Amino acid sequence: MKAIAVYPKKPNSVHLREIPRPAVEDVPDGKGVLVKVLRVGVDATDREINEGLYGNPPPGDDFLVLGHEVFGKVQAVGPGVRRIRAGDYVTATVRRPGKSLYDQIGTYDMTSEETYYERGINLLHGFLTEYFVDHEDYIVRVPPGLQHLHVLMEPMSCAAKAVQQAYEVQRRMRVWSPQRAFVLGAGQIGLLATAILRLRGLEVYTIARRKPPTVSSKIVADLEATYVSLSETSVDELVSKVGRPDIILDATGSSQMALDAMRHLALNGVLVWTSITGGDEQVTLPGDRINLQWVLGNKLLLGSVNANREHFELGIRDLALAEAMYPGVLQQILTNPVTGLDQYEEIMRLLVEDRSALKVYVEVASD
Ligand code: BGC
Ligand code: ZN
Repeated sequence: MKAIAVYPKKPNSVHLREIPRPAVEDVPDGKGVLVKVLRVGVDATDREINEGLYGNPPPGDDFLVLGHEVFGKVQAVGPGVRRIRAGDYVTATVRRPGKSLYDQIGTYDMTSEETYYERGINLLHGFLTEYFVDHEDYIVRVPPGLQHLHVLMEPMSCAAKAVQQAYEVQRRMRVWSPQRAFVLGAGQIGLLATAILRLRGLEVYTIARRKPPTVSSKIVADLEATYVSLSETSVDELVSKVGRPDIILDATGSSQMALDAMRHLALNGVLVWTSITGGDEQVTLPGDRINLQWVLGNKLLLGSVNANREHFELGIRDLALAEAMYPGVLQQILTNPVTGLDQYEEIMRLLVEDRSALKVYVEVASD
């Protein structure tokens, strides 16, 4: 069967290749689930892997099959599978456990080992192919009523984890009722985080470079949040107008933006970083002032990566709630379908060149 792969660390090595078709029996104890891949989303991580900045092949292979945002339909299940049936729509978690305690209790997103295993990213092949098999523990059912949001399940799981972690750490405050949020970046994670924070009742300002109107600015407005363009208003100006935010979630992909956000957080607030920056950017900051403000203000910086099964389920609940509250809004994120695995060059071109492509995804097969 066909697969889109790269040679990690070798820039622009994306190519189509043949790989063996998997079978349910590949997973021990009858726990295998065979999934027909319908759609796969790609993001900046895939771009960075193809740029040679990030990612590693599985041991013994020199190539890595890309793809970590999957939506598919179950073809067959092993005799030991309980939660999933043939015909179900599903997605899959990305990380697989290592050996630490956190890995062993299903929280592999919090592994304490330096080495992490992620399908389509690090040391494990991904989903940009025709079929895949995995243990039922890593397969998450997608409600049929949400099938139009297909490849958003994985990015939503990461956004859901980031917000959930922020609330979790803020239990240090005994009582924490955040009023105002700044979301930095209006890409997929920024927009999904905007939706989650709106559903939690916050006043949300989603801050991005581009001047409105854009698809993102429309989605932000449809979510009853405020879109702020940095070409019109600086973050300092926004703060003097509306006040400091209790939570800032950075999803810009710019370490400059992520670090600079430290200047704006409210007392007792939390700043959450979610971007993967594979480059080597150096940043200058007003260190003394930030240090002073952060100590005097009990401020907290939180990094959040990946998502485990619980976060996928949480994200799916929030997507369902978002559909009830803001029907049809989030599917506007799905801007750029590309048909067929053989379009791998077009997929990368869109990721690199098209600034208006909010979400590029591959239609691998029809239902
Ligand atoms: C993926 C996450 C992953 C992270 C780091 C992101 O693009 O969505 O699942 O943990 O990259 O590799
Ligand atoms: Zn991703």
